[in-house]
Amino acid sequence: MPPDPALPISVTPVSSQPPVAQPSTELSAFVPSFRASAPYIHAFRGKTFVVCFGGEVVADETFPNFIADLNLLASLGVRLVLVHGARPQVEKLLEQRGMESRYHKGIRITDESQLGSVIGASARARARIEAALSMAPRTASVAPVHNRVTGGNFIVAKPIGVVDGVDMKYSGEVRRIDAQAINDCLKDGDIVLMSNLGYSTSGDTYNLTVEEVATQTAIALRASKLIFLLDTPGVLEADGSVMSTLYTREASAIASKAPQASDVQFFLSAAVRACQKGVGRAHLIGRKSDGAILQELFTRDGIGTMISVDSLDNLRPATIEDVGALLSIIEPLERQGVLVARPRALIEREVERFFLAEHDGQIIGCAALYPFPEANKAELACLAVNPDYRREGYGERLMKAIEKAAKNQGITTLFVLTTRTAAWFLERGFTPAKITDLPEKKQALYNFERASQVYVKQL
Ligand code: ARG
Repeated sequence: MPPDPALPISVTPVSSQPPVAQPSTELSAFVPSFRASAPYIHAFRGKTFVVCFGGEVVADETFPNFIADLNLLASLGVRLVLVHGARPQVEKLLEQRGMESRYHKGIRITDESQLGSVIGASARARARIEAALSMAPRTASVAPVHNRVTGGNFIVAKPIGVVDGVDMKYSGEVRRIDAQAINDCLKDGDIVLMSNLGYSTSGDTYNLTVEEVATQTAIALRASKLIFLLDTPGVLEADGSVMSTLYTREASAIASKAPQASDVQFFLSAAVRACQKGVGRAHLIGRKSDGAILQELFTRDGIGTMISVDSLDNLRPATIEDVGALLSIIEPLERQGVLVARPRALIEREVERFFLAEHDGQIIGCAALYPFPEANKAELACLAVNPDYRREGYGERLMKAIEKAAKNQGITTLFVLTTRTAAWFLERGFTPAKITDLPEKKQALYNFERASQVYVKQL
């Protein structure tokens, strides 16, 4: 077969600087930036990242560098799932075979005669990715790491069917992701490589959109990050600058106004869906800038657009209907003595002081705000998260919601009483205080037997 120009055969890195000694000014720039990345290296170890890129990335001349960066992430203990597309490769192959690409709303209509080309192009893209992943680091003078790459029938697909009267034929959607099978591979330290192909229970092959595969996979794995590579350096302002951080609410407004079938429409709405369904953060970064993924992940400000769930998304004030669910979260902590016991009648009376965190419609956390307006202070009380959802930022979001509600009431000081969880509050800007710093009314109620410590935070 003649070489396909969309798939350069050579995998030599483009910026192959020999590993010679650098001038001392560059060395001194390297040390602080490497140190600054240490917290991220620690934070990312053992976390699952799903990285989604189209076939354009595979054809880019910086592709080997991108793959080297992914290998580096894997070596740092990140559990990596890669999802690749093959659109330019498919287009090329169809053209060579005298067939026409047809799209509806930016999604290819894959008829039976074209399915073979889709499978062929996807397989070639996969081979190139696997080859690049097998390449030893270019400056290695030590034995190269060999990260194993695994694939499989991890996706159960189904046809999209007829959209606006258009039969999408062999273009499909995700029905289910086999998260357990993927997790088994990740547990063994493999890099999992997935594509735009999925198989239905009737044994047919379907052509899927990569962003859907990546999004559903990230959700099913409860991934920490979902990363998309796009043509632009991120989501852009009108003046061309990158929007560095977006909350889901702003992001979905921007996505709904984006031009149809644009990267931003597809990837930003996918990012929002993922974050709303529990993926920690989504990142949109430019495929054209060499090393963008490292800069995004290992610096505080990143380089692309980061999307995270709105601090108030999935949070809402409690109503009387929520009392049962509230008690089920609080009671285990009361039994352990972490929280003060609150009888059901009390919670029923004070339910409007509570905020709830929800995950997929299930109540998984709560916190309450007790204002003492005469002292300009308020208590953050009863902060609790279901143990299955700890360390996912729900506690922090509840705390922020309480802070915001307190501020809206003109309150300037928030305090907590705690016996066991002081460290958590100290890490979040609270400082130790004395019983006499509490509002007088609260001092009168202070339980000396419990001997809670007092922490305050200025809002
Ligand atoms: N490196 C951090 C992370 O990966 C922060 C990235 C911030 N990025 C941004 N575009 N604002 O979570």
